[in-house]
Amino acid sequence: MSDLRALPLTFRALFTSFLILIGLGYLMALSYLFLVVVEPHQKNGMGLIAGIDMKYHGRPDSSRLEAALRGQMADRIDQADRDRILEWVRRGAPQSGYESVKPIFASRCVACHNPRSGLSVPPLDSYAALRKVTQTDQGPTITQLARVSHVHLFGISIIFLLTGAIFALSRITPWIRIVFVVIPYLSILADIGSWWLTKFNPVFGIIVVISGAVMGLVLACQIFIPLWEMWLPSPWASDHPGRDPARAG
Ligand code: HEC
Repeated sequence: MSDLRALPLTFRALFTSFLILIGLGYLMALSYLFLVVVEPHQKNGMGLIAGIDMKYHGRPDSSRLEAALRGQMADRIDQADRDRILEWVRRGAPQSGYESVKPIFASRCVACHNPRSGLSVPPLDSYAALRKVTQTDQGPTITQLARVSHVHLFGISIIFLLTGAIFALSRITPWIRIVFVVIPYLSILADIGSWWLTKFNPVFGIIVVISGAVMGLVLACQIFIPLWEMWLPSPWASDHPGRDPARAG
């Protein structure tokens, strides 16, 4: 039967330092997530889930051109022309359809939107120029997702191998220990799996949040329980030292 408190002082000092730094690392990761993903989206009136959905799913139905035509530039064009342009943009702005919308841009927009106008506006006088404002945000590419995923899978598995190994020495009831060392691995799978799924369907944003929260909770247990047991008598020991037959002899 293991007893963290009976470990040599060297190990307890090492484990304690490691667990504290991992805990700090986790807090840093949380603040980073907040500053990079949550806060910027909240400024735009988006909730956490919507922000995550946008990060991984993008906004396939909104391009810069569409936003301008519905917003600042709305009064520069009549509705019929606007609808024709939007229809073309939503088809993916194919080169083949350019000739049919080119006259609209030429008569309504190019007077200002050309490289010689002196205005700091995107030019709209050629197909190549238009492509820049008709592109939609498709979220991260498969390559980007694969890069972020493998870094996370390798890194997080090793972290939970170490915190889990220390936690496995605790005196908590064995089945809880087993569940708690496995849950982080399931959450990583759910978390990273849902990044991929969110790329195709925004509904999975909620799984990113839940699995992240579960992982954080379990990590907190894996840190605080061993810390407690290394330095203080354990109130939750599944066996009592005095009554442990393996120890009695
Ligand atoms: C009278 C000049 C003028 C005309 C005509 C005009 N625009 Fe603009 N456009 C501007 C200016 C100025 C801005 C920059 C506005 C700003 O940054 O607030 C702008 C900005 C834009 C932007 C960029 C918005 C962004 O994402 O920053 C797009 C796209 C755009 N216009 C599309 C069009 C289209 C399409 C038409 C024709 C239907 C058009 N504009 C007609 C002057 C014009």
